[in-house]
Amino acid sequence: MYVKKMSDKEIDRLDVKVDQERIREKDRNTLKVIESVFDFQTSMLIVKLMNKGIIKDIGFCVSTGKEANVYHGIGYKGEELAIKIYRTTTAEFKRNWMYVEGDPRFKGYKKGTYAFIYTWARKEFKNLKRMNDAKIRVPVPITVDKNVLVMEFIGKKEKSAPLIREAKLKKPHKIYGQIIDFIFKLYDDATMVHADLSEYNILFFNKKPVFIDVSQSVLIAHPYAPAFLYRDIQNINRYFSGLRVDVIQDEELYEEITGTVPNPKIMSMEFM
Ligand SMILES: Nc1ncnc2c1ncn2[C@@H]1O[C@H](COP(=O)(O)OP(=O)(O)O)[C@@H](O)[C@H]1O
Ligand SMILES: [Mg+2]
Repeated sequence: MYVKKMSDKEIDRLDVKVDQERIREKDRNTLKVIESVFDFQTSMLIVKLMNKGIIKDIGFCVSTGKEANVYHGIGYKGEELAIKIYRTTTAEFKRNWMYVEGDPRFKGYKKGTYAFIYTWARKEFKNLKRMNDAKIRVPVPITVDKNVLVMEFIGKKEKSAPLIREAKLKKPHKIYGQIIDFIFKLYDDATMVHADLSEYNILFFNKKPVFIDVSQSVLIAHPYAPAFLYRDIQNINRYFSGLRVDVIQDEELYEEITGTVPNPKIMSMEFM
């Protein structure tokens, strides 16, 4: 069900400064729908993005996750959008702290606060941008505002692309090669490690892999980057070995990417 397109006049009425009760009365149809799904602050953020001409419509929920929900949306040129909304109330964010802690781009934020969750959303936006610039196929980021991230929708006609684990891959060895190529590009050109790479965070679209869910991705300077990279390699190799692909062994691949041999601490993720 889509939220009815609002006229400029209606959007004006939804100005944040207007008191909540009056908005409820006058824009019952629009706000009732948005509010039943989002908290008031998030509804207002969506209205703001509509006002700015970024989102025209927001529709069904593509995915409900622990930290965020992803919604389908439509932009003003008729393009499909993915709108990722981070939950402002979640215990999960404590766990995520270590991904931000060693990242020089995110100094001085306290965990568990709104500021931290907004930082997390901004981190995913920045990471997407950095990867896109390095020509790694990811959803093109459009904007981020507080806990709302708007990006390119990977899919067609309201149908999101399947994860590689759901897609029937005709040439798994080819897809494996493309994923390894992305891991190299990530390391060499974006100087990053995905840090949560697996068959659950790669979509299959137009016969090619698309990396998603990059909020936890770190720069290679991050103290845990080597261990995250090794785990990414292990996950991808495990999955494609299962599809009978002749994979490059974990240690060999790690060495090819980084130019160093993985030490036992890296290989066992001892710090976790
Ligand atoms: N840009 C996108 N286009 C289409 N579908 C998406 C997009 N981003 C996420 N999704 C869908 O939403 C799901 C969850 O997104 P993800 O970023 O992995 O969040 P999380 O795993 O933290 O809940 C994905 O598995 C995918 O099905
Ligand atoms: Mg995910």
